[in-house]
Amino acid sequence: MTPVDQPRIAIFPGSFDPITNGHVDIVRRGLRLFDRVIVGVLVNPGKEPHFTPDERVALIREVFADEPAVEAETFDGLLVDYAQRKRAAAIVRGLRAVSDFEYEMQMAHMNRHLAPSVETVFLIPDETNSFLSSRLVKEVFSLGGDVAAFVPPAVHRRLQHAREATKGGPRAGR
Ligand code: PNS
Repeated sequence: MTPVDQPRIAIFPGSFDPITNGHVDIVRRGLRLFDRVIVGVLVNPGKEPHFTPDERVALIREVFADEPAVEAETFDGLLVDYAQRKRAAAIVRGLRAVSDFEYEMQMAHMNRHLAPSVETVFLIPDETNSFLSSRLVKEVFSLGGDVAAFVPPAVHRRLQHAREATKGGPRAGR
């Protein structure tokens, strides 16, 4: 059991490529239950990322610049090892819809098998964020769509920058 004077820490793991309003919603809900939420950005060379892990961490830190209880950093290896290194009581994941359920249950059971002391806590985002995913945001953005409603302003600015750069704007070639 965690002694009462120790902060309750949660790990919110994911790809966050990029962080969306849905992720922000889950972090803020997590802060109602935990003293600190550590957003763990998986370094996953297998996926074709839009942002590098360090860029994703920088964006998350910018989004939560006014929230000292939120930290962001990269991690690799097993999530439960990382959670235990950080002395986290729980792994937090967002559940948007029934379609998330099977994958999330598989991960939660595997993680419980690997580290029975680390709980998984599922949080439900606001219904306005229930259809959101980083994958869709990237797809819409890459096809020229407006994603301003789905991502924090810092992420939107960064995406716009990238778009201008690829159009040959003042930052082209960076
Ligand atoms: O945002 P995502 O891609 O759905 O997040 C998936 C993530 C990072 C939570 C999962 O891939 C993970 O935990 N990876 C770390 C490696 C690991 O521990 N794998 C076993 C999980 S059961």
